[in-house]
Amino acid sequence: MLKPKIAPSMLSCDFSQLGEEAIRMIDSGADYLHMDVMDGHFVNNLTFGAPVVNCLNNYLQKNTKKEYVLDCHLMVSNPEKWVEDFAKSGATIFTFHIEATENPSELIEKIKSNGMKVSIAIKPKTDVSIIFPFLDKLDMVLIMTVEPGFGGQSFMKDMMKKVEILREKLPNLDIQVDGGLSPKTIDFASKAGANVIVAGTSIFKSDDPAKTIQILKDSVQNNLIDKDKDKDKK
Ligand code: DX5
Ligand code: ZN
Repeated sequence: MLKPKIAPSMLSCDFSQLGEEAIRMIDSGADYLHMDVMDGHFVNNLTFGAPVVNCLNNYLQKNTKKEYVLDCHLMVSNPEKWVEDFAKSGATIFTFHIEATENPSELIEKIKSNGMKVSIAIKPKTDVSIIFPFLDKLDMVLIMTVEPGFGGQSFMKDMMKKVEILREKLPNLDIQVDGGLSPKTIDFASKAGANVIVAGTSIFKSDDPAKTIQILKDSVQNNLIDKDKDKDKK
């Protein structure tokens, strides 16, 4: 059964307090902690790598009893180079960009054999059909709704066509959307069939992150219920 999952993007947090910020998100109802890894090459920005994810994982193991998921979104060239490091750091999900690798099948196998869940991301200009051959091997797909590189950009509504196509093909696939998601834009994404929602600015700049997370979750949940009803009618 498909579930709504909300993934605050830690890119928008106060990095000097990464551990505490992550706990604040977990306590506010976050399902995943979305970790944006950028190499200054695949995208025009530089963030962090596996050592930081490792420190965060160690901190969370000591400081929370709750379960958490480290959802790592690698916006890097040569993602194959980092699989072992991320596996060792405690990453739960390894998402790579289809535009960044020449051998997606081999990379999928490498990620799985290192014990992580695997997901493929596509940039706004990339056609969704490029990932069709790999769909049955994936735990999740990430449809970018901004050009990767920075938080705080505007949601690209025209990406919802890709989500609809995927949802039609695979009713039980986790479909993640990333970029510009907020209480104002969430209904477009959830109606199209997205169920894993990344949100940086809208959650971290909110006066009440728990409330914002709940609004995002409710929108997805309501649309999942509507889709089930439609199925019963058919
Ligand atoms: C962009 C990142 C996103 C970004 C989302 O390259 O992949 O995860 O942080 O931030 P907002 O929600 O602010 O658009
Ligand atoms: Zn991301």
